Amino acid sequence: MNIDLKKEQEATLTRPVRAYGVLARLLFRAMDIFYGKELTLGKARLLEILARVPYQAWEIRQYHRMNTCFSEKPAVAEAEDIIGWGREAQDNEFWHLQVINEKIIQEGITLNWFKDIFVLPVAAFQYNIFSRFLALLDIQAAFRLNADFEDHAEHEYMSFVRKHPELDEQPAVSSLLKDHRALKTWGDVFRRIALDEREHMNNSLKRCGKEAEMVPLPPPVCAGKPVPV
Ligand SMILES: [Fe+2]
Ligand SMILES: [Fe+2]
Repeated sequence: MNIDLKKEQEATLTRPVRAYGVLARLLFRAMDIFYGKELTLGKARLLEILARVPYQAWEIRQYHRMNTCFSEKPAVAEAEDIIGWGREAQDNEFWHLQVINEKIIQEGITLNWFKDIFVLPVAAFQYNIFSRFLALLDIQAAFRLNADFEDHAEHEYMSFVRKHPELDEQPAVSSLLKDHRALKTWGDVFRRIALDEREHMNNSLKRCGKEAEMVPLPPPVCAGKPVPV
């Protein structure tokens, strides 16, 4: 992997955040109230637990849709596309969660009983119910909300690395990173996570007809060479 992650960090930090919708602003406000405005590893853990929820809700909704519209090929194809993309994104979000949890363990951080043990499962449950309703009522609105969520996450992670330059001095040692050998420091691990969030945002925008708002990603590379597209 030959991506210049520091260049991508600059690109994120010079790009204004999206014009967030009302739902996204309410969600971010609620997280700020309970966890504080600044991103911490505890707040990142919350972000990653919540990040998987919409994809799961869409998957359930789309399987239900396929059961009822199985003879409509375009509807089935669209549902399969959402499920396939959602599963990939869920796996990626789960990797983020594991990596952040690993960093919390390595730092020896003690979780807060109120925020991390009491509030978090309640928030995840409520977000789950909300995401299922939104997927049922207006999946396009769900994709738009997710695009805002992912854009917010990308900016949060890139700002986090800028505010914590010591991360670039900390070697990224973890079995979770064995497939990401180009990530030498924890600074690069968080930059990589932020870039994944940008990709999640683009995929969300694509599904709600807002391709014009997608943000360029570095070309995919394989063994140091660009992958033909
Ligand atoms: Fe994530
Ligand atoms: Fe994401």
